[in-house]
Amino acid sequence: MVGIGRLADFLLRSLGQCAKLAGMLKPNSIVAGDCIKLMEAGDVPQVDLIFADPPFNIGYKYDVYEDRKAYDDYYAWTERWMAACLQCLKPDGTFWIAIGDEYAAEVKTIGDRLGLHLRNWVIWHYTFGQSTKSKFARSHAHLFYWTHDAKNFTFNDMAVRIPSARQTTYADKRANPKGKLPDDVWSFSRVCGTFHERVKWHPCQMPERLLERIVKVSSDPGDLVFDPFSGSGTTVVVAAQLGRKYLGTDLSAAYVCHSKKRLADTLAGKRKRTEISEDPAAKRAARAVKKSAKKSAKKAVKKAAKKAAKKADEKAGRLSGIGSLD
Ligand SMILES: C[S@@+](CC[C@H](N)C(=O)[O-])C[C@H]1O[C@@H](n2cnc3c(N)ncnc32)[C@H](O)[C@@H]1O
Repeated sequence: MVGIGRLADFLLRSLGQCAKLAGMLKPNSIVAGDCIKLMEAGDVPQVDLIFADPPFNIGYKYDVYEDRKAYDDYYAWTERWMAACLQCLKPDGTFWIAIGDEYAAEVKTIGDRLGLHLRNWVIWHYTFGQSTKSKFARSHAHLFYWTHDAKNFTFNDMAVRIPSARQTTYADKRANPKGKLPDDVWSFSRVCGTFHERVKWHPCQMPERLLERIVKVSSDPGDLVFDPFSGSGTTVVVAAQLGRKYLGTDLSAAYVCHSKKRLADTLAGKRKRTEISEDPAAKRAARAVKKSAKKSAKKAVKKAAKKAAKKADEKAGRLSGIGSLD
């Protein structure tokens, strides 16, 4: 009897799991809906990496979402979606959040309370800020980099290395030829209106280069990357290009529709990459490395030519010496 009871229990649980899987959002999709409801209903599978760029509560004009909530409402909403994200994150998963000055302290406190492990508080310094007359122009946003577990997580350092100052500035022979890891202040231009990358149908857009660094360092090919506030689809576009599985959700059906097209066009090679949006420091550094390599190569050629000439002279000398013996 006990055996039959156990079997029935197992079958019922398996059936329940199948039903849940059937209702689950499929990897490699962008879905219209409220991410909180979807996550709380258990419709989002377990993911390896979450990148969340929520509305900053600063009055941006989105087509559905109202970006001007009372402080307490926004705080409670933030607490809710962050907790829901954590439920979908694998035990060895990574959670990145972008946020403005207004709520950075709150997001940090909520993350701490949820038991996340802060690995870096990265400052994204952007080079296309709005100019001001009576105070310093804001030219940064915050990127919180958390992991679910303190020790067990993906960190692909070799995938995101950049040339070091030893290589670019000091021509130091001790420099690691593989470069160095970027520090915690990242310079990427905002996606301005003249960039190929800029879509016209969404009010704000993360640079693909910035997402590229995050996806490369915090996930492996084949991993599932989730963006609950998918917007123009930057995260899914980058994840798909890098061979990761992706899942995006957005409240706006229109944004979802447009971002599906953006993704399809990207994968079909119809969209150009905006080279100007590359990290300017990395670009400068790469140029310097190239220049220094060219200089070293020139030097090496000169040295080899000198050596060859010397050898030829010596040989000639030896020959004339032989001649004098005659
Ligand atoms: C800052 S934008 C994200 C931009 C995105 N990172 C990009 O690069 O395009 C925030 C997005 O969150 C969406 N949003 C707001 N509330 C949401 C919710 N409850 N569930 C899903 N999406 C939501 C908005 O429609 C908006 O597109």
